[in-house]
Amino acid sequence: MVDLLIRNGTLVTSEGILRADIAISGEKIDGVGTPGSFTGAAKEYDARDKYVMPGLIDPHVHAAHPFRNQVSDDDCYTTMVSAAHGGTTCIIDFAIQWDKNKSIIETIDLRRKQLESDAVVDFGLHATPTKSSRETIEAVSGAILQGVPSFKVYMIYRTQGRMVDDAVLHGLLEEMRGKNALLMVHAENAPIAEFNQELALAQGRNRASEFPLVKPNIVEAEAVNRAVYLNKVAGSGLYIAHLSTKEGLEIIRNAQVQGQRVLAETCPHYLTLTGETYKRSDGERFICSPPLRSQDDLDALWRGIADGTISVVSSDHCGFGTEQKGLGKGDFSETPNGLPGIETRLPVIYTEGVLKKRITLIQMVEVLSTNAARIFGLYPRKGSIRPGSDADITIFDPNDTRVLTADKLHGAVDWTPYDGMRTQGFACATILRGKFIVSEGRLRVERGFGKFVGREIKPETWPC
Ligand code: URP
Ligand code: ZN
Repeated sequence: MVDLLIRNGTLVTSEGILRADIAISGEKIDGVGTPGSFTGAAKEYDARDKYVMPGLIDPHVHAAHPFRNQVSDDDCYTTMVSAAHGGTTCIIDFAIQWDKNKSIIETIDLRRKQLESDAVVDFGLHATPTKSSRETIEAVSGAILQGVPSFKVYMIYRTQGRMVDDAVLHGLLEEMRGKNALLMVHAENAPIAEFNQELALAQGRNRASEFPLVKPNIVEAEAVNRAVYLNKVAGSGLYIAHLSTKEGLEIIRNAQVQGQRVLAETCPHYLTLTGETYKRSDGERFICSPPLRSQDDLDALWRGIADGTISVVSSDHCGFGTEQKGLGKGDFSETPNGLPGIETRLPVIYTEGVLKKRITLIQMVEVLSTNAARIFGLYPRKGSIRPGSDADITIFDPNDTRVLTADKLHGAVDWTPYDGMRTQGFACATILRGKFIVSEGRLRVERGFGKFVGREIKPETWPC
């Protein structure tokens, strides 16, 4: 007698697609078998005509993200509620060292507590140091012991005090070599972007439409190139966050061909929206870093997913509402950066990627779940459906056609970048460790059901 049987679904994992039943006992997958092979369950779910996939993992999420004296409308709870409705069972958020008087370990501890009380999905953390000092490098071993084996550094946002210098970037890569750790970078060249911004503002060019001109492709590509070179010398591992340019992609592809451990992530907005969006009257809402690019970049990124150069599509969710975005009206430099997108990741990628035959269904599962688990030390506990894995399952209805609007989503943000987009497919049930957290459009668990997941990175499972 098992606790839950998911029957008649089409199982989609990185290993293949097949009709299968899944038996769940407690928090774990008990067995996977041909339809009808299990009998006797406390509860059954009929997944006929649905895809049954490993619970989605979003390894790049900013809940309750500060900007000047504001905090994004989407707080820890609403970000995770939105995640759950979008089929995501595990997120990795950031422990950003906003207070430089606090150590990395203290920062991790505080962020963990902040998320823990509100969690409805499981979560991990990337340590995000902001100090260009030896202390940052020396924090790696302690963070690994806390179950936080990935660090993220900003190569940009110098004026906001978030950037670390190249010595620390280099030192972290050296420190992480052979330590089962991974460095994620936000790759943008700070001096060029700052120079361009100062010039634009001095010339009175401060509208949203100027924003992408301040950060042209070279701003990303040069920083990617620098990080890739430092990683090559260090012989370590590197993860490029939210890749947006064809030039950056080419640098990563070449590095991978040469045997470097360089992994790349992009996001739904870089795959569907272009820089033309900044010319709209609400252009400031779309300000994010790096900026939205050209159709050429967008097409190249899809090819990069298809050929395996890019292994993750995260949301980089950062839920500033219209009013918050509007604070910068008339001045892009005053606009909080970041876009909401945690709930729409799956339908957007299925509609624009799978249905348009840019990627396969299996690739979609890999970039939305399995690869993040492999890269960030969650695999095979998460990101797979096999006996012994956490029973984290996303049931996806490929026939659920919608026109996306913010009022149908479940976060606190009053807009979506995909407003009016016709999508096909949506998560119809989300199961976390054997329990339905969302079904029939309703959240089924209380705050605190989601747990912090300590991670142990194993580079031998990386998809490159
Ligand atoms: O524009 C972006 N990517 N914003 C996300 C939050 C941040 O500041 O890193
Ligand atoms: Zn981010």
